[in-house]
Amino acid sequence: MTTSNVAAIILAAGKGTRMRSERAKVLHELCGEPMIARAVRAVAALKPDPIVIVVGHQAREVEAAVNSSNARFALQEPQRGTGDAARCGLGQLPADFTGDVLITYGDMPAIKGSTLRAFLDAHRKRAAKLSFISIILEDPAAYGRVIRDARGNVDKIVEFRDASPAERAIKEINTGCYIVDSALLRSALAELKPANAQDEYYLTDIVAIARARCGNEKVEAWAADDPVEFAGINSREELANMEAEIRAAVNRKLMQSGVTLVDPSTAYISEQAEIAADCVIGPNVQILGACKLAEGVRIDGTAWLSNVTIGPRCHLKLGVRAEDCIIGEESEIGPFANLRAGTELAGHNRIGNFVETKKARLGRGTKASHLSYLGDATIGADTNIGCGVITVNYDGYEKHHTEIGDRCMVGCDTQLVAPVKVGSDVYVASGTTIIREVPDGALVMSHHPQREKSGWMATWRKRHNDSPDGSLRRKKDQ
Ligand code: UD1
Ligand code: CA
Repeated sequence: MTTSNVAAIILAAGKGTRMRSERAKVLHELCGEPMIARAVRAVAALKPDPIVIVVGHQAREVEAAVNSSNARFALQEPQRGTGDAARCGLGQLPADFTGDVLITYGDMPAIKGSTLRAFLDAHRKRAAKLSFISIILEDPAAYGRVIRDARGNVDKIVEFRDASPAERAIKEINTGCYIVDSALLRSALAELKPANAQDEYYLTDIVAIARARCGNEKVEAWAADDPVEFAGINSREELANMEAEIRAAVNRKLMQSGVTLVDPSTAYISEQAEIAADCVIGPNVQILGACKLAEGVRIDGTAWLSNVTIGPRCHLKLGVRAEDCIIGEESEIGPFANLRAGTELAGHNRIGNFVETKKARLGRGTKASHLSYLGDATIGADTNIGCGVITVNYDGYEKHHTEIGDRCMVGCDTQLVAPVKVGSDVYVASGTTIIREVPDGALVMSHHPQREKSGWMATWRKRHNDSPDGSLRRKKDQ
């Protein structure tokens, strides 16, 4: 069914008093992103035009957290309830808009685009004027209750605070997703009155208004079945519970698809991550953002990965941190390696302990096994970077580039003062400071000639009134 002629309004102006936070509730993060970003993404699946986001508390920050090209913002100031918020949102729709309006709340971060699509299809199939999503909960908590008449038709929604004991016993609740014919919405919102326990304009009151105006056959409650998807987040505890639910679902799906999670309770994997079968993820691993792990990748444990693409059969040893980078097939990383943004390893590489890379492209088979900084560098294939090699890329004002060719041996403790270029098949003697271009095939060294002074140590000790074998100083040290 077509999804054209839909506009959306997302209510996100509230402070969220129950969060006890200076930050607006919808800015609190779930699985690494603000709740509002998730809510907008789900709604965007219907391709509504426009998507109006009603902002109020920390309006600017909320606007900045929304990443959608056809979003518009409506300011609700002061915040006088969800009905008042919807009215503000409506003001941002083109005056001649005549389609359906989807209204959701910014504090429902687990809702799925596919569910909203099914909801819209059902609404149109039934030719309803107003539909909302309800769900039956074993513990209906403080949600608004769905009141039905003797025939089972929807009568109205009553907020928990305003509900009688009999109404509170009802287990069918309002999730807070509505699709309303725009003409009906305009007139119903104009009719709202703040006659309730909170002195607010309740959006939920449009249900009774719609029924009175259009008859019960035009008002529908669409029954959902996944309580997690429709949970509203009002407190930090609910936020943490939701995080755990989503995380557990992601982990379950991965395990079902053939990924080993050694300890799922400490695997923090984003919903966007793509992890192939036969990957093994050890304990204490965070895989954030859009990571891609090809088949057979092994992560021993304690790793933090964000937007990293990892080729087949790579092995990440204990303690790898990697961000915005590409690790080619069959590479061995760590223990204790820091791969910063712009690192690109062609494959069969080795990055060992205490190596930091940044904007560094390493050709196939190139290794840096110990204690190095490789920043702003392009290094060819099959080159060996010895222990303690440093690209000196920063002059205090600008960053400069280092280039090293194929099949080089870069000796331990070499500094490359950028900008500088080293050709292919170059042998750099250990302890060399490279300050100008080195041609292909050369040996390069910048050593001071070694000198010895025989018997010097005895003179030195004597000058310090020490014994010939230095034992007095050692005693003093103890
Ligand atoms: C609301 C519903 C309730 C439903 C529940 C589902 C109403 C009156 N009640 O209650 O029936 O069961 O959600 O989770 O709608 N907001 C504004 N401006 C305001 C007030 C709120 O933009 O003036 C926004 C909030 O930022 C939030 C959303 O609307 O994202 C819902 O508000 P909230 O106060 O959380 O409503 P609930 O009490 O949870
Ligand atoms: Ca809520």
